[in-house]
Amino acid sequence: MIRTVRTVAELRAHLAAWRDQGQRIALVPTMGNLHAGHHSLVELARNNADRVVASVFVNPTQFGPNEDFSRYPRTPEQDAEGLARSGCDLLFLPSVETMYPLGAESAVRIRVPGLADILEGAHRPGHFDGVATVVARLFNMVHPDVAIFGRKDYQQLQVIRHFAKDLAFAIDIVPGATVREADGLAMSSRNQYLSPSERSQAVEIIHNLRTMREQAAQGLPLVGIEEEAGERLSAAGFDVDYAVIRRADLSLPGGANEPGLVGLVAARLGRTRLIDNLEFDAPTP
Ligand code: PAJ
Repeated sequence: MIRTVRTVAELRAHLAAWRDQGQRIALVPTMGNLHAGHHSLVELARNNADRVVASVFVNPTQFGPNEDFSRYPRTPEQDAEGLARSGCDLLFLPSVETMYPLGAESAVRIRVPGLADILEGAHRPGHFDGVATVVARLFNMVHPDVAIFGRKDYQQLQVIRHFAKDLAFAIDIVPGATVREADGLAMSSRNQYLSPSERSQAVEIIHNLRTMREQAAQGLPLVGIEEEAGERLSAAGFDVDYAVIRRADLSLPGGANEPGLVGLVAARLGRTRLIDNLEFDAPTP
């Protein structure tokens, strides 16, 4: 069984003992319902530190009023077993009161201007404020040397890098590659909301990202590539929020020949909203 702590005092007691021994500490923040993508981050954490702390907290401040906070899958026992297997040393399982001692409504918030307002932020107002707010709290509670975040949530990774740098957190932010199902669908806790027919449609997201990458490599105009991808996804039954190509920092690119471009898609199948991205210069998935 993995050691599990629920309060900051218990957490700090474990961390202090490790720090006294000069051990390097990694943090893997999650919302639980862990899958192979999360476990790959724990493995990456093990390669970057002596001790790994994972947090499981379904963060209310990052969900919009009509989003899936109450039905978000919560599987704490399975998560604890999986974390023990993947070599995590400590599970931090805080309550809402521990995370937000003055109440979520009165919580001091961190807001990343610009980056938090585009793409995901435009479709989920306040989402990244909630993410930055909870991750900053976790950073202050754990004081990790290194924190691991998945490339699957590409914009989230940029938001976290931005505030960690701006607020002078002395924490290395290490990104982990996106883990995919055999057919290419990015693993996500939300995939289980999909009906069998939606599940087979869902693979079109990565197929379209790959097509976007090929067309950009051919030097086709990026705006046309984006439009076509949006149309193909709509024709395949998606409600498309965006299908775009951006620079690595999410600014608008000048042209298809630029290095470091990334394709990003957010689209809904029924009630389920899926996101994925593909860094065009990265080794092929
Ligand atoms: P959650 O969706 O549980 O994801 C936790 C971490 O796992 C994030 O860094 C995410 O990018 C990564 N991840 C998710 N799916 C992945 C996949 N298929 N392959 C690799 N990594 C993957 O993201 C959050 O939680 C929250 O916003 C959080 C950062 C914990 C703040 O509440």
